[in-house]
Parts: sequence; structure tokens; C-alpha cells
Amino acid sequence: MSSTRLRVGVVGSANVDEVVRCSTLPRPGETILASDPLRLPGGKASNQAAALSALGLATTLIARVGNDASGEWMIDVLSRTGVDTSHIQRDSAPTGTAYITVDAAGENMIIVARGANAHLDVANVDFSDFDVVLAQMEVDESVVDAVAKAAPNFILNVAPARPVSPETLRRCAVVIANEIEAEYVDLATLAHCVVTLGARGAVHYAYGKEVTRASAPPVQVVDTVGAGDAFCAAYTAQYVLRSSPEVALRFAVTAGSLATQALGAQGALPTMKEVETWLARA
Ligand code: RIB
Repeated sequence: MSSTRLRVGVVGSANVDEVVRCSTLPRPGETILASDPLRLPGGKASNQAAALSALGLATTLIARVGNDASGEWMIDVLSRTGVDTSHIQRDSAPTGTAYITVDAAGENMIIVARGANAHLDVANVDFSDFDVVLAQMEVDESVVDAVAKAAPNFILNVAPARPVSPETLRRCAVVIANEIEAEYVDLATLAHCVVTLGARGAVHYAYGKEVTRASAPPVQVVDTVGAGDAFCAAYTAQYVLRSSPEVALRFAVTAGSLATQALGAQGALPTMKEVETWLARA
């Protein structure tokens, strides 16, 4: 199946990431010194949409930004990645902002001020236009519930970790969670759940039973921000291309690892060919 004819909808947040680098992450109550701040495009849905577009999928982002310069900038940056931005809504609240600290090992801490993301409205979106829809939890739970009902094929990345209604979880073709997020779902009740393990790779479970596992390739990690988003995008691309769980998981783990090789959530998003080249070498 050709990837260019398949349409992916991504629903969720678009943030400006305010990033500083430091040697070690601060403890509660501690003041530390850091690099000059960088302003980079981010937000889990925006990152996942940019990653899908880099992989060659026709991708539409359904998100909401402010009527401010940051909102204009986000739309401009995303359209230059090839993402269809015609469904990005504007709001009187400011564009969402993520305050991110990255340490010398590439680990991070993220605090999100949701701003306009909290007002995303999907009532007028025709989800039957998409072969698959991918969403996360940085927008209101009611939005996620509505998308789960309307989308014929729905993948949910339960990030950030928050409770999800059992009905929405039942509607998911696949749930993607990291180890912390996986504590918020009952693996035994999910038809397909993929749990990411950071540098240790990822596992695919069907009703709580392990189906397949993939380890991560060795890469020079610069920044892990957005690695999970690159993973979700790559897994979704393989899902819509109808790859086997084994192929999809290996591909997604490799794409997520490659995305850690530059600063910023959208700084090192791999193409389909780049991932395939790595896999062929492994
Ligand atoms: O997953 C990484 C993303 O989480 C960052 O880009 C930040 O904006 C937050 O949404």
C-alpha cells in the first residue's frame, strides 16, 4: 500500500517549547544555572504530526493555538514540515507553552501551560476523512472521548498520564503508554497496548499477554524530548500501512531512538528511508 494515499489525523496540543539545558535536573526547592533559553516547536500532537509528515504520510493536525505571534509561528513552522494546518483553530487564550529542562544525559523535565489547547473543539471535524486518527491527553478528556467515538480507527497515546474512560479505551485500536502512563490503564482489558521502555525499547501486549518486544538501537542521545512522539507517529504509520506488530514495533523503536540525536522535539525526525536504512544495518 502506498503511504501517500493514506490520511492520518492527529488531534491534540501544539506548544511553544521554552528549553534550557543544565548539567543535572533540579531537585524540589533547588536553584540551578542553565544555558540561554531556546524557543522550539513542540506539543505532543504537533510533534507527532511533524513526525508522520517526515515519514511521508499525508497528515492533518487538529489543534488550537492563540491569536498571538506564537500561534502564527507554530502554524508557519508546521506548514513548512508539510503538515496540513487548515484544521488549526485560533483562540483568545495564549498558545500553549511547555517549560523544558534537559540535562547533560539528555533526560528532561516538562511542565505544560495548556493555554489555547484547553479549548480545542472537534465538533465540526469529519473524522471519517482519515484512515487513522492519533490523539494524546494534553487536551480535555471530553475531546479525546469525542474523537474515540467518531474516528473509524483510533490510536491513543495516554500522555501525559491521566485517567481515561473505560469506554474510550475500549474504542482504541492501540493504546501507547510509557511505563508511568501504563499504570493508569488495565493492560488485561486492552486488545492492543504498546508500552515504551525508553532506552530499553518497547513491548506490545494483547490483553496483557506479551506479543512482541523490540530493543532500541544504540544512538548518541542529545535530547529525549519528543522521542515518545516520534515513536507514536512511527507506530501509527506502520499500523496504517498494515505492518505486523513485530515490524511496527521495531520500526517505531528505531524511529524514536533516531529522534533523540538533536536538540528539540522536532529537531531530528527521521524519514521512512532513514529508519529503513538503520533497520537494514541492524
Ligand atoms: O512530548 C514532548 C512534548 O511534551 C513537548 O514538545 C512539550 O511541548 C510537551 O507537550
